[in-house]
Amino acid sequence: MSIDLTQLAPRLAGKFVVFDGPDGSGKSSQHRRLTEALVAGGGGVVSCRDPGGTDIGERIRSVLLDHDLSRMAVNCETLLFMASRAQLVFEVIEPALREGKTVLCDRFVTATCAYQGAAGYDPQRVIEVARYAIGNTWPDLSIILDVDIEAGFERIGRKKHHAGKHRKKYAGQTSLFAGGDSVPDAMEARSLAYHRKVRELFRELPAYYPRPVVIIDSGQPEETVFAHVVECLARVFG
Ligand code: TMP
Repeated sequence: MSIDLTQLAPRLAGKFVVFDGPDGSGKSSQHRRLTEALVAGGGGVVSCRDPGGTDIGERIRSVLLDHDLSRMAVNCETLLFMASRAQLVFEVIEPALREGKTVLCDRFVTATCAYQGAAGYDPQRVIEVARYAIGNTWPDLSIILDVDIEAGFERIGRKKHHAGKHRKKYAGQTSLFAGGDSVPDAMEARSLAYHRKVRELFRELPAYYPRPVVIIDSGQPEETVFAHVVECLARVFG
């Protein structure tokens, strides 16, 4: 089915859509494609990423992802992700929605449910903490791109056997990953078992997340996945 994006763009005005999923799920490519398509269709779009997306948020992102997290308590980790998000909502997302723009965000509370959930923080509590951090600014739709963990790692150019080995090697350094693109960040450096749990928790989200979540199989060519994304948006916002 081919859907006219010029018709979809106005229906997404003032809507907040999140792309999320395991590392290597292709969410950033889908996010970029949708941004380009909506802009070409005449829509006002604000694209952002979480953690980060503001000066303050990018500093928090660096604390979280450019350093060894092995000594950080999981509730500290959770609160730091939420703090970055609170700033993003305040500074970027709420103003854009008030102006009737479409907000597309790479990751959001869904990621904390999955990643910090896999590290032992109860996903239901993540939702409670999020209610404080983001108030009523929940996404109208969260699209989870589901991918086999090993296929995802291959996509981002990371060897399976790297999983879990970097943190120890780099422990104690202040900036772990300054040296190049292929070096994993603090989350990517966690074990395969951890990432499998992350995927499982992403797949469970529709059962309890307070707003709509759809899961799309992203183990297909980018073009096919994008067609599913567009179909899904047309269904939800049609
Ligand atoms: P990304 O740029 O690929 O989205 O990387 C961000 C990393 O941070 C990714 O491995 C997922 C992780 N993360 C969490 O652990 N918790 C969160 O709440 C978010 C937003 C990201």
